[in-house]
Amino acid sequence: MSKIVVIHGPNLNMLGIREPAIYGADTLASIEKRLTELAKSLDIQVEFYQSNHEGAIIDRIQACYGAVDGIVINPGAFTHYSYGIRDAFSSISVPFVEIHLSNIHKREEFRQNSVTASIAVGQISGFGAYSYELGLLAIHRHVQGNGTHE
Ligand code: DQA
Repeated sequence: MSKIVVIHGPNLNMLGIREPAIYGADTLASIEKRLTELAKSLDIQVEFYQSNHEGAIIDRIQACYGAVDGIVINPGAFTHYSYGIRDAFSSISVPFVEIHLSNIHKREEFRQNSVTASIAVGQISGFGAYSYELGLLAIHRHVQGNGTHE
């Protein structure tokens, strides 16, 4: 059984309320419920973590060292500028998939760059809440050794 941690960055606790035209109507709780069901069907042990604080997210990433098989992360706005989060991933050598609800590549210019994507297994962006499910499937495949690369 593989162990996967799903990490949500800042403001994602506001899903359902926050800009529904961009991020959809699903709450974080409903997304996590679907992920829990998907994880069960794939025999994955899944754990969730959300924080609005960069240092807390770095602590959670560090705690994954030697403890989990893979990570799915939506770093929220930290995607675009947190070298601290990037360095945390570089430190632990645990594979991760970066996901976004919106397609960051067709949004404002500042959202189009990710400082973490180039060290991720891959990035999934633009499928709404389904991005999380795709992310879980992708990291599961990767840790099972059926990924397309690496
Ligand atoms: C987001 C995109 C980011 O630009 C934004 O700051 C978020 C959410 C997404 O899931 O589409 O908080 O990561």
